[in-house]
Amino acid sequence: MDPTANSRSSEAEICALPSRDAVADAALKRVLTVGRDAIAARGSFHLVLSGGSTPAALYDRLAQLDSSALDWSAVHVYWGDERAVPPSDEDSNYRLAFETWLEASDIPEAQMHRMHGEAIDLAEAAQEYADEIANGIGPDGVVDGFPRFDLILLGMGDDGHTASLFPETLALKERSAWVVANDVSVMSARRLTLTFPVFQAARHVLFLVTGASKQSAISRVFQSESCDLPAARVQPTDGRLEWYLDRDAIPSPPPAGLKDSP
Ligand code: 6PG
Repeated sequence: MDPTANSRSSEAEICALPSRDAVADAALKRVLTVGRDAIAARGSFHLVLSGGSTPAALYDRLAQLDSSALDWSAVHVYWGDERAVPPSDEDSNYRLAFETWLEASDIPEAQMHRMHGEAIDLAEAAQEYADEIANGIGPDGVVDGFPRFDLILLGMGDDGHTASLFPETLALKERSAWVVANDVSVMSARRLTLTFPVFQAARHVLFLVTGASKQSAISRVFQSESCDLPAARVQPTDGRLEWYLDRDAIPSPPPAGLKDSP
């Protein structure tokens, strides 16, 4: 399927949770169930972390788990995108996850696959990250030429972007590379980002969206079958697609098929 096409190949499961905390609680349960199933089935769990601020509450919860919650030695974490900053920068997506969760976790550091946003040559860093993914996920994890992640966590910006796939940027048209450097002119910024084909190849994609500022984009994503917002174009080919929204992010009228629990 053309990963930039607007047609919906997977039916999204949309859940309305009462609060940001409830979104994080539900996301924690999903990460654990998908992780346990992946490790039982294939001996490893390949999880892509979202950037932005929304997932911080989930990372806090993951940090509080005891070591028996999951076989952490079998867990690999990756990032869906990264800003063009060093890992020590306050804007770094890696730093947020590392400091709120990973630093204190039992996940082997070699299995924390960081995007090198600090690289001078971001295009080269994008290729290096694709190689990093290939090494982490292994040959069995690559299906039809793309990495098949067990779970990809995504957020959505007020403008409907996801990862660093921003409206009207070149990365939206990428059909073969796993990772690209993307020029985001509206932010006068460069980013590293996974691409649509990688999201379409996932076993499971979970969007976490909270806050009233997201209502307009949510309305567009779910009120129109032909919505061209980047977040609407994430359509796993044969994977599961879930959206967890808090009450503030739900527009009026609400999306059809809204459930009150995952
Ligand atoms: C980033 C993210 C981006 C984020 C959305 C939502 O690097 O900024 O990958 O796609 O998920 O902008 O951000 P918030 O969670 O902060 O609303």
